[in-house]
Amino acid sequence: MESLKDQLIREKLPRHVAVIMDGNGRWAQKKGNSRIFGHQHGVTAVREVTEAAAELGIGYLTLYAFSTENWSRPKREVDALMSLLVSTISSETKTLLKNNVKLNTIGCRECLPPNVLKKLEDAENKTSQNTGLTLTLALSYSSRWEIVDAAKRIAGDVKAGKINIDEINDEVFSKYLTTYDMPDPELMIRTSGELRISNFLLWQLAYTELYFTEVLWPDYRKEDFYEALLDYQRRERRFGKISQQI
Ligand code: IPE
Ligand code: IPE
Ligand code: MG
Repeated sequence: MESLKDQLIREKLPRHVAVIMDGNGRWAQKKGNSRIFGHQHGVTAVREVTEAAAELGIGYLTLYAFSTENWSRPKREVDALMSLLVSTISSETKTLLKNNVKLNTIGCRECLPPNVLKKLEDAENKTSQNTGLTLTLALSYSSRWEIVDAAKRIAGDVKAGKINIDEINDEVFSKYLTTYDMPDPELMIRTSGELRISNFLLWQLAYTELYFTEVLWPDYRKEDFYEALLDYQRRERRFGKISQQI
């Protein structure tokens, strides 16, 4: 029996995969542990998926790590997530460099604690020359925030005479989003059985294939990722056309 990885058609891999990493809290609680324990174990899954994507030659992997709404969680949990972020970036930068991975972040940078931002910027600078996978962490990110922010900056540019209202279209608008330098994701995976988007990449997901799995994020491994990719490869993406035109 061919392995899942071998069954993948290399020419039909998505260029960009986005993931809503969900279920850390439930994973820990099922084991009688604190939610924070779940976040700590989620790091293993991040490592696995990043490595799998890099090995396959996927161009972009975007991970939803912390939403704007997540600031409303208990302070203890938020603090733990922030310090986990700092320690993970410190320990993983070497591996990113070794695997030619470029780190990028999207979201409200000013909303992050200064020490977290500093760590992120250091890692972004250190990996900026890497030419393999672009790993984007969505941090203090929400799609409505992003779209409103884009609208404000377009309005500013119109006011300043840098752009005419008639010139604003899909393509121009996309350039004002935090993902201006990435293709839209072809595949979006959400773990933990929740069937919603939770304010993630609303604009960019317009024609993305959505894949949901019951697996809780700390249990997510390369094989689960290959399964999602295989499912994606079996789909027909029509973009409004009919089958015969594809
Ligand atoms: C995802 O796991 C991680 C973050 C949102 C930071 P959760 O913490 O949402 O875990 P559940 O959904 O409560 O199980
Ligand atoms: C979405 O997960 C945000 C991240 C994975 C970072 P949540 O667990 O916060 O989403 P909801 O609240 O269940 O929609
Ligand atoms: Mg959740």
